Amino acid sequence: MRTIINVSNRLPVTFKNGAFTKSSGGLISAMDGLGSRVNLQWIGWPGGRIESASRQKSIATELRDTYHYIPVFLDETEIENYYDGFSNSSLWPLLHYLLPYSRNEERWYRSYHLVNQKFSRLVLEAIEKSPDHPLVWIHDYHLMLLPAMLREKIPDLRIGFFLHTPFPNFEIFRCHPNRQTLLEGLLGADQIGFHTFGYLNHFRHTLLGILGKASEMDRIDNKSHSTALGVYPIGINIDSFKREMQTGSYRRYLNQYQIAYQGKKVVLSVERLDYTKGILRRLDAIELYLKETPEPKNTIFIFICVPSRKSVWEYQTLIHKVEVKISQINGKYSTIMDIPILFMNQSVSFSELCALYSFADVALVTPLHDGMNLVAKEYLACQTQKSGVLILSELAGAAQELSHAIIVNPYDIHGVARSIREALSLAGTERKRMLAPMRTRVIKYNAVYWAESFLSQLAEKKDSDALKKMNTRISSVMERLVSAPGKQAWFLDYDGTISDLKQYPSDAAPDEEITTLFHSLSSLAHLDIYLISGRKKEDMEQWFSPFRFHLIAEHGYFIKKYNNADWEQMGTEGEMGWKQSVMDIFNPYALTTPGSSVEEKTTSVVWHYRRTDSEFGTWKAHQLLNELYSTLSNLPVEIRHGHKIVEVSSVLINKGLAMQRFLADNEYQYVLCAGDDETDENMFKVAADNIQSFKIGKGQTSARNQIASPKAFRHFLTETAKKMQEK
Ligand code: UDP
Ligand code: G6P
Repeated sequence: MRTIINVSNRLPVTFKNGAFTKSSGGLISAMDGLGSRVNLQWIGWPGGRIESASRQKSIATELRDTYHYIPVFLDETEIENYYDGFSNSSLWPLLHYLLPYSRNEERWYRSYHLVNQKFSRLVLEAIEKSPDHPLVWIHDYHLMLLPAMLREKIPDLRIGFFLHTPFPNFEIFRCHPNRQTLLEGLLGADQIGFHTFGYLNHFRHTLLGILGKASEMDRIDNKSHSTALGVYPIGINIDSFKREMQTGSYRRYLNQYQIAYQGKKVVLSVERLDYTKGILRRLDAIELYLKETPEPKNTIFIFICVPSRKSVWEYQTLIHKVEVKISQINGKYSTIMDIPILFMNQSVSFSELCALYSFADVALVTPLHDGMNLVAKEYLACQTQKSGVLILSELAGAAQELSHAIIVNPYDIHGVARSIREALSLAGTERKRMLAPMRTRVIKYNAVYWAESFLSQLAEKKDSDALKKMNTRISSVMERLVSAPGKQAWFLDYDGTISDLKQYPSDAAPDEEITTLFHSLSSLAHLDIYLISGRKKEDMEQWFSPFRFHLIAEHGYFIKKYNNADWEQMGTEGEMGWKQSVMDIFNPYALTTPGSSVEEKTTSVVWHYRRTDSEFGTWKAHQLLNELYSTLSNLPVEIRHGHKIVEVSSVLINKGLAMQRFLADNEYQYVLCAGDDETDENMFKVAADNIQSFKIGKGQTSARNQIASPKAFRHFLTETAKKMQEK
């Protein structure tokens, strides 16, 4: 059985008043069902503040020995900033479309980052102790940075991430100040799962809008790995409900309710007391129903509201508002014999919950937004006797699957009031007809099905095998470079090869790591380093003149040898006469696509659309390409669709030709060339036994070797230089 390291903010048990109790929430209920099917190690917070080291130690031992859980203890500031703050006052409302509730403090994000690092350390420790290659499964919005943190430490680790909340549309997510780092954090995963197709699509549009990254429906390619995207609607722990409904305790509760509520209809709502659940709107709808229904006295509305996140201000005010509203309604519509609303601000035991689900005539589930909503599914699972009716918000993920429910818009209180009336008056045959297909679905697509389908996909490890093979090849190339006698020439592209690709080209100046690497390469007398780039000569001179490098700018049009003060030009201006006609095609596109611009270089013309609306910009780029292909076919130019650019450049100038010129003029025993995009392919096509070529990142290439990322390539260069110095 393979080890699964399951990571969520909260452990399934909470330590309170000296004892462990079951935690609440959909995630915990569903994972409970996996039980003995996998070797599950769970890392998470046991709740509360446990600050003494000896107490932490004894709790950790008990959790490990009894449950295989590894606790992450949070101190007072972490609870305030990471949990109450960033997770529950910033992300949670935003993910549920409640933008006005979403607040931000810089210290919250700092703490979120630190706590994600804390989780990362514990996951790495657990991996080290694990006898096999575990899969890591991270859950929910508290840990969005964790996938990338783990990927950085163990590049071929299999990492899954599941979001239990909705993923809102681009216009909402773009408002978050940390939108970019959060998305980059998630993309560290090999697989990201959502409850619905809608959430997945919002995520894809957001990646395009914020990171400028286009994706396939089921995949996005990153520099070092690809991330599979999928829809996995979570199910319920069906066996635990079946088992519970066989117990004496369940039957006792059911009997009590039958006696207490004889002749009455019961409408049930169960949830954490959370503003996303739509409790206040639902109370408005109930009030309307009571007002408009002449004889409603045989109906009781039961509200089970489990206390949740009580130190967050919005939750504190909500409980107050709910209590006031219920007391107003009860004050107005109660009689000496009847109270319309029974409100419990407590959790109930599992037997009691099952008995309530089974006894209620109607479940009223009207969240304003909800990732899935398991209560709806649990109610259906327990409806073995009455053929009860489910009223379900169209804004809960569950509505995608439970189309036979009475589907309502939770914001439309008149509609909800009408649906209560309709549900209470449906005939038995109609109720049975609605219930049966939903029950079948809930029983079949349960939590075990959900977890197994997510995990089996994650376990396919084609990528990591390929990566291992690649690593072995790369070490043998390093050995050959180190042991080769005589002079060597290294032709190195800069952006995306040595430096990571940056949002703006001006952000890519050499940092400390690159500067150290460049100094160490400069010190190796038998190496001639040619930095070869599409950049302008001024940029290159400014950044790279401190090193003993030859510089090749604009794909080979300008060349500056290390010892020369001046740049040489490789062609004549006359050969570039085509540029004006290309500018004439580009200019109208710049005008009609806000955010785009045209750049004229010496040997090429570039249309940049990085700052446009992503979808519109991509569409216009395709139009432009069509126009270029049909009008420029007789000119000595190459048309290229690069990363958020369309470029037309001279065919008389390219990196391959530049490289060949230097190889012809010098005697090199060994040659290395490296690059990350299409313009570097011309170098890779220059073949000879003594030339080693490297493509950085994924994609089709003529290079002999491929390496995952600029970071991995920098590591390769640093190690090779070190070995050469030691020789
Ligand atoms: N629940 C609970 N204790 C209670 C009442 C409910 O643990 O007293 C459980 C309920 O069975 C369900 C979960 O809380 O599994 C709520 O999950 P849901 O997906 O509906 O909403 P979430 O709390 O995750 O937002
Ligand atoms: C939702 C979230 C879970 C969370 C649960 C309970 O279901 O998606 O991640 O555990 O609510 O919230 P709490 O803040 O008590 O953990």
